[in-house]
Order: sequence, then structure tokens, then C-alpha cells
Amino acid sequence: MDSERIRIERTLLIVKPDGVDRRLVGGILSRIERKGYTIECMKTITIDRELAEKHYAEHKGKPFYDKLISYITSGPAVVAVISGEGCVGGLRYLMGNTDPLKAAPGTIRGDYATNVTKNLIHGSDTLENAEREIALFFGGE
Ligand code: RTP
Ligand code: MG
Repeated sequence: MDSERIRIERTLLIVKPDGVDRRLVGGILSRIERKGYTIECMKTITIDRELAEKHYAEHKGKPFYDKLISYITSGPAVVAVISGEGCVGGLRYLMGNTDPLKAAPGTIRGDYATNVTKNLIHGSDTLENAEREIALFFGGE
């Protein structure tokens, strides 16, 4: 039965500073809701350096790391917990390739972005990272 295949997951979404600056928050959230996912909670914050370094710890030492940290802390971002069937992989699929020039048309990055740093949106890449990131951004709430 289909119902046996339903696995409700949670994932962490960030509309990055370029998305907020370009007034794309509503358009991005609308696509996520239209897919069938639920916005469980949401806030606008300016991510500080300490939080950014914890969130992107896996990238420390990579050539793009410093640029990534200064970009993600550069202005307000919208952070949300999204839930729904298979939403960890599902949101990644909606986002498209990390490099917007390689992201398929119809994906969020493919439709709205051109730059690999300013690629609009973050979605957790595994269930384990989703729980870690949700605790990081909403742990005290
Ligand atoms: P995210 O973590 O933000 O959802 O992005 P992602 O999984 O698609 O990509 P990831 O490999 O985790 O990279 C994190 C963010 O670092 C920036 N980046 N720049 N070659 C580069 O200049 C480069 N590669 C990655 C992007 O902002 C990417 O989203
Ligand atoms: Mg990633």
C-alpha cells in the first residue's frame, strides 16, 4: 500500500541573504508549499560567524570556505523547518545543482540564480544533517 511508503521527514531550509535581498522569499516558499511540504516554523535572522562556522563545518579548509562564510553572514536570511514525505531529498531536488549554471530549468537555482556562491537556498543533504541543523538553528525554541 502507498501509505506504507510514506516517511515524513524534517529538513532545514535557509533562504540565503541574496534571496531575501532580491525579495524571492515568497516565491521560493510558494514552490515548497505547492510541492506539498509544510512550513513548521520560520524566522528571519542574520546568521553570525559562530553559527555559520558550525553549520558549514564540513567545508572548513576548502577554497570557497571564507567566501561562503562572509556571504552567509552578510545580511538577513530566512530559516525554516520544512516537513513532508521524503522532504530531505525532495527539497534538494527542487533546489537543483549547487552551481546554478548547471541546475536544471524548473529548479529554484536553475530558474533564479547564476552564481555558485549566491545560490539562494540551502537544504539539508541527509536526515542526520537535517536533525543536526534543526537543533543548531531552533534548538532553544
Ligand atoms: P548548501 O549546503 O548551501 O545547501 O549547498 P549544497 O549542499 O548544494 O553545496 P555544498 O557543497 O554543501 O556547498 C555549500 C555552499 O558553498 C558554496 N560553494 N561555493 N566552488 C565554489 O565556489 C562553491 N562551492 C560551494 C555555495 O554557496 C554552496 O551552496
Ligand atoms: Mg551542503
